[in-house]
Amino acid sequence: ADALKIGIAGLGTVGSSLARILVERRESLASTCGRPIEIVAVSARERKRDRGVDLSRVAWFDDPVALAENPQIDVFVELMGGAGDPAYAAVKAALSRGVHVVTANKALLAAHGVELATIAEERGCLLNYEAAVAGGIPVIKALRESLTGNVVSRVYGIMNGTCNYILTKMEKEGLSFAECLKEAQRLGYAEADPAFDIEGNDTAHKLSILTTLAFGNRISADDIYLEGISNISIEDIRAAADLGYRIKLLGVAQRTDTGIEQRVHPTMVPIESEIAQVGGVTNAVAIESDILGELLMVGPGAGGNATASAVLGDIADIAKSRPGAQMVPVLGRPAASLAPYKRAQ
Ligand code: HSE
Repeated sequence: ADALKIGIAGLGTVGSSLARILVERRESLASTCGRPIEIVAVSARERKRDRGVDLSRVAWFDDPVALAENPQIDVFVELMGGAGDPAYAAVKAALSRGVHVVTANKALLAAHGVELATIAEERGCLLNYEAAVAGGIPVIKALRESLTGNVVSRVYGIMNGTCNYILTKMEKEGLSFAECLKEAQRLGYAEADPAFDIEGNDTAHKLSILTTLAFGNRISADDIYLEGISNISIEDIRAAADLGYRIKLLGVAQRTDTGIEQRVHPTMVPIESEIAQVGGVTNAVAIESDILGELLMVGPGAGGNATASAVLGDIADIAKSRPGAQMVPVLGRPAASLAPYKRAQ
């Protein structure tokens, strides 16, 4: 079968992991997907950096929008991040031409998800974003597909690996906030601007996407009560422990009689609870629904390989799909049928 030709915009931690895996596992992926997956073009700010993979035979673009518009590619993989341009313009350009998009960009989806989903559905192409929330944990698939028919009452969890890594390391090793953050950055967990991690914005972006999938409303990332972890000290962590609690940065969304409540803040969780056991860069997402009951998914939430694993799964889904096959709506239901966002009183 013809190869699935992909263009990757952004070769940072995640893009480099993805490129390495696609090259190293070319044969096994081709046999699993029924066709080879080939990187035909890339764009990145730095060309020269050693990424542990030979990309000398692929086309290099300076402008990610030009890459998205390249007629060679079947799938545009956006790994640049950021809610605005060039990511927004490039994703929009690809979808508008009917080219499938895979992205890990939660900030982009939180800001423009409904508009992008609408374009994808009009053009009959896929916009896959499993990597955007909780890294490698298949939470988008769970909410969008597996739990269809359930009425979801609550979604909550640890959705930022950097914050959970910092809080865990402060508690276990007694290191300062600043030292732990530096280590999280070194390991490739943090956002380009780590303020997004520690002030809770990244969790809010992810939560707003889960809220939409859970409750069927339009995305509203602006309506989230937000408090990060930058003011948490080792003394706070010790005081919580003395009372039998651990501090976790949680994102919580629930359905109430008057509307939807969304919040992100440091939370004291009982030390014996499952969520309190989730340490390091690991994420956890709990979904409470009426038919299934409580589902808790725990797994790697940030970093090159964890995120690349989810991106790879999204690309493989496209490689396995056949033109004209039934498609899952981007946001779990047709974008036009999403309810207006109504905040709880
Ligand atoms: N900076 C994010 C985190 C990356 O630490 O969770 C994964 O989205």
